[in-house]
Amino acid sequence: MRILITGAGGFAGQHLLNHLINQQPTAELFGTIYRLEKQNRLPDIVTPITIDLRDEADVYAMLADIRPDAIYHLAAQSSPSHAQTSIWPTLETNIRSQLNLFETCIRLNIKPRTLITTSGEIYRCDTTNFTPLTEDIDLLPESPYALSKVTQDMMGLQYFISHKLPIIRARPFNHSGIGQRGGFVAPDFALQIAKIEAKLQAPVMKVGNLSAQRDFSDVRDVVRAYALLIEKGKVGEAYNIASNRAYSIQYVLDTLLTFTNIDIDVQIDNDKLRPVDVPIKQGDYSRLNKLTGWQPTIPFETTLRDLLEDCRQRIANTMRSK
Ligand code: GDD
Repeated sequence: MRILITGAGGFAGQHLLNHLINQQPTAELFGTIYRLEKQNRLPDIVTPITIDLRDEADVYAMLADIRPDAIYHLAAQSSPSHAQTSIWPTLETNIRSQLNLFETCIRLNIKPRTLITTSGEIYRCDTTNFTPLTEDIDLLPESPYALSKVTQDMMGLQYFISHKLPIIRARPFNHSGIGQRGGFVAPDFALQIAKIEAKLQAPVMKVGNLSAQRDFSDVRDVVRAYALLIEKGKVGEAYNIASNRAYSIQYVLDTLLTFTNIDIDVQIDNDKLRPVDVPIKQGDYSRLNKLTGWQPTIPFETTLRDLLEDCRQRIANTMRSK
């Protein structure tokens, strides 16, 4: 079994590799790393490919060489915050890279089972009659990031219908954990706490909107769902990956603050507020559960505690390397 993971050097990619190395020890693993992220080292067992997936010729050369049986397409610009000010790069990265993979599969006449990762951000959220979001809810992009993910999702469906490519659409909601970089709420908070503890920052934290509620899972549970979907997912179908619990961002902050002894002042930073910030996102994962038995196993508080510990180590490592 030859498995290609795009974005293998990224947050979810590294966790997925660990999972696959444990679960499928005989698989041949290939992982792409974005050319500007050469510092990410993959485990020795994985063949690394440094590539910009927006480059059609390079994607062709890569797939012609590997001819994978399965593709996990994780590479993306995945930060909705960053997308607010980086609209075209987000659209280009997320749409063009996936298009290159699909078009190349057609040109090479190969049909690897392909998992694409879109987002729980793509749904229309009716906040007056709120119920957990199922896969059948209308799609409505309310941000540049969501637009890129709606397009990826619909492109997956279209290439399944038009070209019979065996594509499975995963729609992960928020996930966090060890290795997640800044630009997402939990590490944005945890990194500040770690810096304050290391006396690199005054005991004042800058935060954005604390009233929004989001559905968080641990990244280790999410990559387990990806592997189950590549194995058992119905092609053409879409599956939520979520916890079906909505946590306020205030709760994320309060929980992280319980893990430190330092008294920290919290200030709202207007630059962190978004033009549109849907009040609540909560995902119904019954379709995935019925198919695979998957359910989240790691409590959110454990995820946050592990993340904070990881951020402390990252800060200590940067201080040591200075
Ligand atoms: N990033 C960030 N930083 N967000 C903050 C902050 C902060 O300092 N303070 C408050 N927030 C609020 C945001 O306004 C938003 O309401 C919420 O925290 C979560 O923000 P993010 O962590 O940036 O994630 P997201 O919900 O926009 O998107 C995440 O989930 C999607 C799936 O639902 C990302 O993981 C996406 O990649 C994913 O597709």
